[in-house]
Amino acid sequence: LESQPMRRGALIIVEGLDRAGKSSQCELLRDQLLTKGHAVEYIRFPDRTTPIGKLIDSYLRNASHQDDHSIHLLFSANRWELAKHIQDTVANGTTVIVDRYSYSGAVYSAAKANPTLSLEWAWQPEVGLPRPDICLFLSISPEEAAKRGGFGAERYENETMQSRVRQLFGTLLDRQRDDVCVIDAGRTVDEVSEEIVDVAVKCISRLDAIGPLRALG
Ligand code: TMP
Ligand code: MG
Repeated sequence: LESQPMRRGALIIVEGLDRAGKSSQCELLRDQLLTKGHAVEYIRFPDRTTPIGKLIDSYLRNASHQDDHSIHLLFSANRWELAKHIQDTVANGTTVIVDRYSYSGAVYSAAKANPTLSLEWAWQPEVGLPRPDICLFLSISPEEAAKRGGFGAERYENETMQSRVRQLFGTLLDRQRDDVCVIDAGRTVDEVSEEIVDVAVKCISRLDAIGPLRALG
């Protein structure tokens, strides 16, 4: 018997506005892929457990203040500190599912409309990070989001920010369109999950054609 070369895992990002159902869908995807026999790890950004993550957590809970650029770079640093782990995990054959990534990073910061913090500026620190094999964008209308209940108490959880974020996601995802798959998240949890699992499985089956993990440009 010839030994088969190790097949790498996929890097699957799940993005969307608050209340689009990202976290539940990530958990369902993880469970479905595990059932199908794939090795899977689920991580989320911000990772609030690291020293940088603790600064971010405090900022999001409005317990501390940060300059817009400074907090932006901390969110990015929080991804960079896990970049090697993501590369190694994927190389070892485990598929990594990530709840929020560089897209949220650029869009939420640019949504502050700070004159020296453009979408272009905000994207730059992300260049070179592991590039997703697929970015699933869970799309939900403002009406449907409103039906799903009120905002929490964290920073950014208000109408002004959310509508700017929605608009900027449109611009950024169009620029990165080769990696993006838009999912209509206004349907039932099961309907959305079925499509996500389908897209993820197809992505995993295409990995040989994609080759090694790429870098964001
Ligand atoms: P969470 O609700 O998914 O835990 O994310 C917390 C908030 O942080 C959410 O409003 C989006 C925002 N965010 C950024 O501003 N920059 C980032 O890089 C990430 C990952 C999230
Ligand atoms: Mg939140």
